[in-house]
Amino acid sequence: MSATTLYERIGGATTVDRLVDAFYQKVLADEKLRPFFEGVAVERLVAMQKEFFAAALDGPVQTSPFDLASIHHNMGITRDHLTRFVNCLVDVLNSETGIAQSDAVDITFRIATYSDEVLGGAGGTDG
Ligand code: HEM
Repeated sequence: MSATTLYERIGGATTVDRLVDAFYQKVLADEKLRPFFEGVAVERLVAMQKEFFAAALDGPVQTSPFDLASIHHNMGITRDHLTRFVNCLVDVLNSETGIAQSDAVDITFRIATYSDEVLGGAGGTDG
């Protein structure tokens, strides 16, 4: 057992802020993902995503649990979108020098775990 949480090990709020900011820059730069975020208050979304990451990495929990299935319901998100989204995260983690490879894999796994919720009932296609 490790004495610290994943959140503490990677550097806490400072690192999560930096990661999530860089992550969304990549997501919004992706031509297939960007349309989903048109008209969305991205600053608020990024702030919520920081809360989500903190909780997922065993850091402080400040919000009630997110209902990811309802949030992403009927957006038309496919497995391909999901893969691109997670790849943005992998790219960001790969360019981080201060995070151990095993922690980077753990972070990716913890976020990708929510894929089925995000895809919901309609997301089983490869489209
Ligand atoms: C495992 C993958 C994902 C996770 C964990 C995740 C998580 C979240 C979270 C925590 C929020 C904020 C909820 C809130 O504002 O209260 C959110 C919102 C949102 N997500 Fe995701 N998401 C994922 C994948 C995706 C993908 C692949 C897309 C689109 C291609 C997407 C599009 C959106 C949009 C457009 C919003 C804003 C909804 C709104 O404010 O109206 N998400 N997501």
